[in-house]
Amino acid sequence: MKDRPRRETFLPFSRPMIGEEEIAGVVDTLRSGWVTTGPKAARFEEELKAFNGVPHCLALLNATTGLEMTLGALGIGPGDEVITTAHTFVCTVSNVVLRGAVPLLVDVEPDTMNLDADRIEERITPRTKAIVPVHYGGLPCRMERIWEIAARHGLAVIEDAAHTMGARYAGNRIGSDPRSVFSVYSFHPNKNMTTLEGARSPSTMRDTRRT
Ligand SMILES: Cc1ncc(COP(=O)(O)O)c(C=O)c1O
Repeated sequence: MKDRPRRETFLPFSRPMIGEEEIAGVVDTLRSGWVTTGPKAARFEEELKAFNGVPHCLALLNATTGLEMTLGALGIGPGDEVITTAHTFVCTVSNVVLRGAVPLLVDVEPDTMNLDADRIEERITPRTKAIVPVHYGGLPCRMERIWEIAARHGLAVIEDAAHTMGARYAGNRIGSDPRSVFSVYSFHPNKNMTTLEGARSPSTMRDTRRT
């Protein structure tokens, strides 16, 4: 009994919607010869910028790389602390550890599964440099409260918006509010919009960045 499978067929965690248009797009890219950073990556950045109404947008390898780069850009390193949620994908936390900094985890609200903004201040010390809220499953965190705390303590806010492409907070697209220094999206196939992962490797970024 215990060896009998529950299902006859494999149940995927998520299934990306890939239709003829997407397949034609891939074939067109392969035929164009631009198989790394090309005009489509630039168009993607421009369209995403317009969609979110933001001044800058950079296509990278994936959200893991994006989070790593944003922590690096803020100069976060040994001796620093970063506040984030106890409930996320591993890279939100492991990127902090990889930079030699200490992640401080805040418990989630039972009804939203998002970090409990009212418990952030319990964790802040003089070494704390940033807050990384994760909008879990596409539901935005209580950002007004988070921005207010960040401003009062001089902390940077980086939104882990991996699940939140297209979501709105207080009428505005997630990632469009300048009170967050960076917002990072994921286009992994199990997210709400996919590019089958990212478009550009970080090693080429400095040479090709358009701001
Ligand atoms: C909350 C969260 N942040 C970051 C990531 C990393 O995304 P990516 O696979 O694009 O590196 C994921 C991926 O599952 C995620 O769920």
